[in-house]
Amino acid sequence: MRNARINSIVLGLAAAVVLGGCTTTDPGAGAAVQKREFGRMPDGTPIYEFTLKNSKGAEARIINYGGIITAVRVPDKQGKMGDVVLGYDNLEGYLKETPYFGALIGRYGNRIGNAKFSLNGKEYKLAANDGPNTLHGGIKGFDKVVWTPKVMATLTGTALELTYLSKDGEEGFPGNLNVRAVYSFGEDNAIKLVYTATTDQDTVLNLTQHSYFNLKGSGDILDHVVMIPADTFTPVDSTLIPTGELKPVEGTPFDFRTPTPIGARINQADEQLRIGKGYDHNWVINKKSGLTLMARVQEPTTGRILEVFSTDPGLQFYSGNFLDGKITGKGGWAYQFRNGFCMEPQHFPDSPNKPSFPSVVLKPGQNYNHTIIYRFSVK
Ligand code: BGC
Repeated sequence: MRNARINSIVLGLAAAVVLGGCTTTDPGAGAAVQKREFGRMPDGTPIYEFTLKNSKGAEARIINYGGIITAVRVPDKQGKMGDVVLGYDNLEGYLKETPYFGALIGRYGNRIGNAKFSLNGKEYKLAANDGPNTLHGGIKGFDKVVWTPKVMATLTGTALELTYLSKDGEEGFPGNLNVRAVYSFGEDNAIKLVYTATTDQDTVLNLTQHSYFNLKGSGDILDHVVMIPADTFTPVDSTLIPTGELKPVEGTPFDFRTPTPIGARINQADEQLRIGKGYDHNWVINKKSGLTLMARVQEPTTGRILEVFSTDPGLQFYSGNFLDGKITGKGGWAYQFRNGFCMEPQHFPDSPNKPSFPSVVLKPGQNYNHTIIYRFSVK
């Protein structure tokens, strides 16, 4: 593990030298990484888009603003490549209001109730940006900051490293937090995300990824067949904060243990579906330990399959209920109600205020670690 890390650092330095301002490079064993300017921040800071491409021509694109995955091009059952994530064609789109398309979410994925929590007897007040609650890290979460990029060669190919120092008190959270996110795209058409972090004060942390998928590349997602291996989920109150209960999915529209189309039960008269305007809940994955399959999604017409793996205990499955056609994204597609879905592996929402949920506390000397894999295939 340690040797692999040292190797990747050494190779990373070599790659950075090769890169030095060029637009294309091949730092070693893996396929080429292309780098192009994607746009400029209002203060003139350039933002780059990095394309990680495998030898089959499939690719994932990432920008160093918000750690956003801007495109994922993978084949359908006929071998035709298509983009399966929602987003914008340019930086301006992401700088305007965005519902977190493709973003790296931090410091805290999903909601913290009443924008506050207590740690070691001290209350921390956070920025409220979703009614009374804090959503996805606050007003300026990790999805809205500029990350420092570095192209690296690893033992298995190429990767993009993004780093960011979140200062003590940012959005109300304690501790100077050093965050590192490494994105790679393998020969198996899998995006691998490895998040690590350290802090100099006790804090809370819950990093995740907010891509909106549509495996058909158009229309709504109601025909996508979902499997989530979870016996329980965390029901929410009217502001989407978990009540603290772990509710069995048995006999409810939340039972995805058997593969079921998203649209099959989404409009049923169910109090939780009413509150979420559809699915917008955290499933408690039946986990062993380590990297676990959290969800499998299949789109029947294209044959595309998405499998989601993670080391975290929960999965937020959000069926795009707040999309309403007001956003026009890539290629002029006006994103309508439920035109995309998110699968966000994470710790449970509001864990800092729920002592019965798995802990999200990170202490000095500890290493935060969360791995997510989105793997694409066809049937
Ligand atoms: C949340 C939704 C929220 C959406 C923002 C999801 O992760 O669960 O409630 O509206 O992010 O786009």
